[in-house]
Amino acid sequence: MSKRYINMTLPEKVELAVREVENQFYLTNDYLIKASEYFEKSMDEGLKAPKQSREHMPMIPTFVTKIPNGKEQGIYLAADLGGTNFRVCSIDLKGDHTFELKQNKYKIPLDLMKGVKADELFQFLAIKIQAFLNEHHDDVANNKTKDPLKLGFTFSFPVEQTALDKGTLIRWTKGFDIPDTVDRDIVELLQANLTVLEVNVKVVALANDTVGTLLSRAYQNDPSKTNANTVIGCIFGTGTNGAYYETIENIPKLKNPPKDCKGMVINTEWGSFDNTLQILPNTTFDEIVDKETANKGYHLFEKRISGMFLGEILRVTLLNLFERGLIFQELYKERGGSLPHRITEPWLLDSEVLSYIQIDDSTDLKMSELILKNVLRLPTTRDERIVIQRLTRAIARRAAQLSAIPLATIVKRVQDQYKDDDRDFEIGCDGSVVEFYPGFRDAIMESIEVINPLKGSPKKIYLKIAKDGSGVGAALCATTA
Ligand code: BGC
Repeated sequence: MSKRYINMTLPEKVELAVREVENQFYLTNDYLIKASEYFEKSMDEGLKAPKQSREHMPMIPTFVTKIPNGKEQGIYLAADLGGTNFRVCSIDLKGDHTFELKQNKYKIPLDLMKGVKADELFQFLAIKIQAFLNEHHDDVANNKTKDPLKLGFTFSFPVEQTALDKGTLIRWTKGFDIPDTVDRDIVELLQANLTVLEVNVKVVALANDTVGTLLSRAYQNDPSKTNANTVIGCIFGTGTNGAYYETIENIPKLKNPPKDCKGMVINTEWGSFDNTLQILPNTTFDEIVDKETANKGYHLFEKRISGMFLGEILRVTLLNLFERGLIFQELYKERGGSLPHRITEPWLLDSEVLSYIQIDDSTDLKMSELILKNVLRLPTTRDERIVIQRLTRAIARRAAQLSAIPLATIVKRVQDQYKDDDRDFEIGCDGSVVEFYPGFRDAIMESIEVINPLKGSPKKIYLKIAKDGSGVGAALCATTA
């Protein structure tokens, strides 16, 4: 990630404090190499452990047993719940790496994200699927079709999957908290609410968004043109996670694999890599952020990387400097002893704000001044903006470096599956951070090079933005039902 300092000296006391915080976020090359080794060990342990526990990376078998080749065909529905929006789409797979997609997006009301019963949320989802069919597929909506339309449900939370169309919620993440959903079958919950509404749709596949991303990118990728195999589907957005294809002998916890199956897509749930903090960097700021979350002690890797947390890490870091008398002192006095609530309350500093500050090279960081004022109602001095920019860059850089660890490790692990061809490796990725955060992808690539997973091989690794994973990918899961 580029750094452009334009004579940005700070008062000595502040400079020393900022350096000390930057150092806490600094990761060495040696660290990345060791963390990659530890990640691989955690993968194997997760693939062995018969029961889910906080200590193990979930490594969930998905019952998706093959990767698409672009020839799949037909019309399918997809529904996607993964964050603040619910998306419903219909996908017409053309069988030639292309597809047509219709979609509607519905905002999940905040009061349906916590403190309600599971059925209240799932009824809302079923009603939106019905509304989508009314608008785009009136034949299905009016029950004129004989066979139900098959739906792939992308549900981007940790799920213990026991079949392609069966899976119970392990725990909520990303701000959702509806306790009576935990341990219940997600497909049943959605299907029951569709049946009540007499919607002629059958939920045939449950997929994580990363599985969808892997399948969707593999469908769209034509290796004869790109000379690359798609080996990982991953998300770096509100949350983070990745999926890849594992050979069956490496999944000891899968006691009854489907007949003749040689391998299976694994949903790693790498957000939960190293929940016991054996190797992850752990600053006091990370600890504060974790304490503020509903899933405290879980998904600690995600809490250092993904969009939901970057702004929050910056916010608590800034408050710490304020409490030490180093920034916002004048503002505090002027306001008669307070700071703007958008900086004192958790979760109000969006990572999008960081992405503007990250690349601001305007004189005296005037652009950041405007953004901080408009979005956070936070007036700042030039020195304060320098501090904010340096911390933003330190936090984002650590996030990108950490993101490289699972990617490099998985490429290293799967390379043998492709030893008989000379194609490169591509990673399909989606999510606001990897797509829009300035320099994030380059910084990931730099760290992948440091880890150097393909030592001695001429093959290359590419990051490809893979859009519509959760729509097209879920449809592709439904084709395998
Ligand atoms: C969830 C994953 C999901 C990821 C990206 C995480 O918080 O646990 O299931 O794939 O976010 O959306």
